[in-house]
Amino acid sequence: MADLAGVRVVDGSLLWQPPAGPAWAVSSDWLRDSCPCAACRHPGNGQKLYAITDLPDDLQAASAEAQADGGVLVHWSDGHRSVYPAAWLHDHALSEPARQARRVSPTLWTGALRDHLPVADWPVLLADPALELRWLEQYAALGFGLLRQVPTEPGQVALVGDRLGFVRVTNYGRLFDVKSVPNPTNLAYTAVGLGVHSDNPYRHPSPGVQLLHCLESEAPGGDTLLVDGFHAAQILRREDPGGFDLLTRVPMNFRYADASTELRARQTLISTDMDGVVRAVHFNNRSADWLDAPADLAQAWYRAYRAFARILKRPELELVFRLAPGDCVVMQNDRTLHGRTAFDPGRGRRHLQGCYIDGDAMESRRLVLRRTAHS
Ligand SMILES: [Fe+2]
Ligand SMILES: [Zn+2]
Repeated sequence: MADLAGVRVVDGSLLWQPPAGPAWAVSSDWLRDSCPCAACRHPGNGQKLYAITDLPDDLQAASAEAQADGGVLVHWSDGHRSVYPAAWLHDHALSEPARQARRVSPTLWTGALRDHLPVADWPVLLADPALELRWLEQYAALGFGLLRQVPTEPGQVALVGDRLGFVRVTNYGRLFDVKSVPNPTNLAYTAVGLGVHSDNPYRHPSPGVQLLHCLESEAPGGDTLLVDGFHAAQILRREDPGGFDLLTRVPMNFRYADASTELRARQTLISTDMDGVVRAVHFNNRSADWLDAPADLAQAWYRAYRAFARILKRPELELVFRLAPGDCVVMQNDRTLHGRTAFDPGRGRRHLQGCYIDGDAMESRRLVLRRTAHS
């Protein structure tokens, strides 16, 4: 064991005591696989230049030294030498408080959000990157955002989709119309109310983001309902931890079929990461197909499913607002569940157009705009 200022080698791994904050242990494989040197990563694009199998199984840190600038120099058992800058060590700290601080903590909301809708005027957003970033930050925190003054012409929703990301073409086409039609293949195309749901859980992967653009809304009713699925999951976890656990482990088979399409996907209603943080909610009663689970598990699962569905119907969680022509709601499809109240198609027209984009493109846009904002 070598005892050095700030850094110690213990059995070939490192214990790092940063200038501030708790010490953290570093596995030798983790640290070596993070070596920033020009032999390990391409200096231009930062991509790795070796395969993980090129690193020896018995790799150990032979010695380590804290550098004057706060970085760490490590000599490895295979003769390689790595230097880790202070800022990099700070950003990648593995202490529990540092890992917790890095966790994305969404802003959970209820129906009371109706007085503080995350809204921006589309033409202004297009011309003002600072406002666009503000809107994207709100979207990221809340799982949805509202755009106003999107021109009320058919097809505009796909232009918005291609500006926020890239429209994902599906069997419904580049965009889809939501209005009542005779003999609908999907309940969305009727005038009945729709309980809150996420779209297309029968796809791999499910759409990351759904856009719905209002072209006409003369028909009485047809208000938009949104529910924060992450908030509902947190409530289920508190009120029924066993049920929550089942919904994170036992997947439902989802299905959509028409004459030319057969879509099937199997996924859990709630997904958590290794830290137990809720990352996704997929809830869609209409396209739930069947549960491939033994009887006692299925019995308990259905109890949990009903409990979650009841939480999603709690009036205090429902954000209700009316989309006016030109409004476009942009929803994180694996978090913000949407539905609508029934409407009367006999007393006026109602016409929405929707499309899907992937979530990573919007996230990329937010991170790129942040670069400029923080530089
Ligand atoms: Fe939908
Ligand atoms: Zn290296």
